[in-house]
Amino acid sequence: MNTKALFQLSYGLYVAASKFDKKMNGCIVNTVVQVTSNPLQLAVTINKDNLTCEIAQKSKMLSISVLSESAPFSLFQHFGFQSGRNMDKFVDFPFAMTGQELPYLTEHACAYFDCKVTDCIDLGTHMLFITSVTDCDVLSNEKAMTYAYYHEFVKPKPEASKQKGWRCTICGYVYEGEELPPDFICPLCKHGAEDFEKIV
Ligand SMILES: Cc1cc2nc3c(=O)[nH]c(=O)nc-3n(C[C@H](O)[C@H](O)[C@H](O)COP(=O)(O)O)c2cc1C
Repeated sequence: MNTKALFQLSYGLYVAASKFDKKMNGCIVNTVVQVTSNPLQLAVTINKDNLTCEIAQKSKMLSISVLSESAPFSLFQHFGFQSGRNMDKFVDFPFAMTGQELPYLTEHACAYFDCKVTDCIDLGTHMLFITSVTDCDVLSNEKAMTYAYYHEFVKPKPEASKQKGWRCTICGYVYEGEELPPDFICPLCKHGAEDFEKIV
């Protein structure tokens, strides 16, 4: 099986956010898909270890900010490489509230969706949220960022280094060791062993 085939699937990049008991939180996801148009439903997949997953399961609400090509790497580090368990992720980022009182980004986002969770499907490591869209709007005429654009222009290119081991192709984390355990999960971005490449 040549898992490089997975790189041929196209994705966008988003901040999925929720709120429960005054705690607002969000994380980067690439897994937002429109699954039906009447009614308008989005599917979103979030790792169970993420605080955003826990909060969305409790509140049954999700907002989706569609990131635009202007989004800097620091935004991905802020929402995608650290957990809101120890910090308030929205404190330094301009945001507004959806009709359901969920935060969405007002800079570096070209659209947003306000969603009610109608079903949660347990996929083992991740929860698949089926949501019904209660509101949405376009925020700017910037182009939406694709995963391919993120890899090519946003994520810093790895420096030629003397490090040995395996590098996460999503966020650049390096696992130092000859063999990468097949069930290894990147501690930064939570992607699995299939997204690692050997440093040669
Ligand atoms: C480019 C990129 C894509 C990501 N895609 C996903 C995803 O689709 N699903 C997911 O659960 N986490 C994804 N992550 C990882 C989460 O954003 C990350 O684990 C985050 O720190 C979780 O934060 P939280 O605990 O505050 O919810 C991605 C991270 C990056 C940098």
